[in-house]
Amino acid sequence: MNHKTICLIAAALMVAGCAVTAEQVAAEKEAANSQAALGMMKTSFKTRGQASVDRLNQDETQALCSQYRDNPPKNIREKIEALNQTLTVFPADGKLLGDWKEGEKVAQSGVGKQFSDNPETPAGGNCYACHQLTKAEVSYGNIGPSLYNFGKVRGYAPEIAKYAYGKIYNAEAYSACSNMPRFGHSKILTEQQIKNVVALLMDPESPVNK
Ligand code: HEC
Repeated sequence: MNHKTICLIAAALMVAGCAVTAEQVAAEKEAANSQAALGMMKTSFKTRGQASVDRLNQDETQALCSQYRDNPPKNIREKIEALNQTLTVFPADGKLLGDWKEGEKVAQSGVGKQFSDNPETPAGGNCYACHQLTKAEVSYGNIGPSLYNFGKVRGYAPEIAKYAYGKIYNAEAYSACSNMPRFGHSKILTEQQIKNVVALLMDPESPVNK
């Protein structure tokens, strides 16, 4: 029931003092506009291959981040991070490190998830689009922090490997409304691919730590 209906009922019952704040009116207008915009996108975008219009449906985390323009207040931020902590699935075999050489290939590849990509071919992580990782690769983006020397600086302790795995699996569990894709949660990378990327960050022999 919206505030107008409530006011009408209140008026009908002769209840005095039905005050509607400007904030409530603005919030209702915003919600109506968002619904209208979503409806417009749903009718104008078309499913093509694996790129389906279902991608427009936001989960609770995405909806909250949209609502607060990626800058939620502390309590909402904590709520998002706590929720996403519960959504992270760590490997059943307890092993977090795979093969760093395979991890480097995942970090280099930006292929996957577009309508023109074969959904059977494993997707890449495109880590270099946002992070520096090795000295050898000079072409990288800087939306994210440099991960060069990640293991060397943080140490090779199991808790750090667990943090790296969890972060790559679901960045929202550590920083609400992060720009980093939720690679495990959104099924972009497989468990083995994430292990390989964790090895890239955490293996002392990896070029990340040389
Ligand atoms: C679209 C950009 C983007 C991509 C792609 C991306 N990241 Fe990130 N990443 C970020 C941003 C931004 C941060 C810092 C904010 C945060 O912590 O969420 C970050 C943070 C991290 C951190 C935490 C760093 C620290 O100092 O604690 C790790 C680890 C990481 N990314 C690994 C990866 C790996 C591995 C990949 C590839 C599988 C990857 N990222 C792909 C944007 C990205």
